[in-house]
Amino acid sequence: MTGLAQEKIWLAGGARLSGEVTISGAKNAVLPLMAASLLTGGECIINNVPRLDDVLVMLSVFKELGVTADFCGHRLRLDCRRVRPAAVDPRVLGRIRASNLILGPLLARFKEAEIGACGGCSIGSRPLDLHFAALEALGARILPLENGYFAFARDLKGAQVTFPFPSVGATENMIMAAALAQGRTVLSGAATEPEIVELAAYINAMGGKVTGAGTPIIVIDGVKSLHGASYTVIPDRIEAGTYLLAGALSGGEVFLRRARKAELAALLSTFDAMGVNWRETADGLWVKGGRLRSTDIVTAPHPGFPTDLQPLLTAVLCTAQGRSTVRETIFENRFTYVAELKKMGASIQIRDNCAIINGVPALFGADVAAGDLRAGAALVLAALAAEGESLISGVEHIDRGYEDMVPKLSALGADIRRVKLRAQAV
Ligand code: EPZ
Repeated sequence: MTGLAQEKIWLAGGARLSGEVTISGAKNAVLPLMAASLLTGGECIINNVPRLDDVLVMLSVFKELGVTADFCGHRLRLDCRRVRPAAVDPRVLGRIRASNLILGPLLARFKEAEIGACGGCSIGSRPLDLHFAALEALGARILPLENGYFAFARDLKGAQVTFPFPSVGATENMIMAAALAQGRTVLSGAATEPEIVELAAYINAMGGKVTGAGTPIIVIDGVKSLHGASYTVIPDRIEAGTYLLAGALSGGEVFLRRARKAELAALLSTFDAMGVNWRETADGLWVKGGRLRSTDIVTAPHPGFPTDLQPLLTAVLCTAQGRSTVRETIFENRFTYVAELKKMGASIQIRDNCAIINGVPALFGADVAAGDLRAGAALVLAALAAEGESLISGVEHIDRGYEDMVPKLSALGADIRRVKLRAQAV
């Protein structure tokens, strides 16, 4: 008897990528923008929304909250008039980490919210303590449920809050909760990622008063209510980084339309150390691969080297000349993909959350499994450069965060396709 067909990515490595790829809207920008739409009783239009599974899962959460949504092409219309802080199916909430971003807006608008435990990738424990401590400073009470949390408040009053760590999600939840609180909230030690800047701009377009986003000090003056708005999502800097690294690794020449230098400064300075040729043009970035030198990086909150590109860079360093080190400081379990790279001939040791990589002349194709979103992308990059064929399972992880990765790589000359394999007979 055979089980359901299992979708995988088949890849024959060795192609020099060349041509142009257009970068889609940013996953980690659109998810908080969607959440912030819950703050209004009006209609919101978000353009350049990537067609990703994470967006679809967020929409299924929204449906249970009473949002009317219309997602056509890359345009998302959200009507939040009939939103209620209902209890959403924990199985749905648990599918994406970003579902916890409904906490701030529902607390702000309805003074109550229910969220799941955590969800998302298996890259670390990913607690919510920083979110809860900050929201409690505004006057919220948060109670643990069997598989989630219930938050409520009589009123939300502005407060001074200092984050011990610049959590992206906690900063986003706090900006949304404080947007309708009474009085002024000052966040110190806030995350400074570009996605935070976008969230503040979107809330301001709704009539909110948020200043300082993009710096560690963010000031939010609560308003009585917020109206609907229209907004366009920025390009995805992690997707752009992924294709920059793919171009560098393949030894070809790739142009990334819409990629923006300012958001990729840490990667581009790493390229300079590795001897990768790149240049900024009016509407994108150009990269040319070649023999890559080893380097040493440490991941850090923005503007440091982004943890989301850590697996991708590690895959590229596997065949760079010399010894490289990649130290992960944001998540405690973000090297699970290394075991898969070793099946392809990589020479990597992990010590104290740091990968020590000895460059080898070439990797070879293998059957490998993606355990999370960026690990999956890293295995695709490694397979692109490997000699021979690879089969990559865990495609569902890649579909969470990359729009049309297979067609985009195929258009750049990669010999890649999705295959539906009949599961092994049992
Ligand atoms: C966002 O996750 C991104 N996700 C992640 O991208 C990204 O890796 C991360 O920020 C860091 O840049 C979205 O934006 C949807 P954090 P988030 O709160 O908000 C710890 C991808 O691949 N922490 O900054 O969950 C946490 O465990 C994903 O696109 C606490 O301890 O990240 C982690 O170790 C992966 N307590 C570190 O902080 C808290 O209350 C960073 O977490 C919150 C976080």
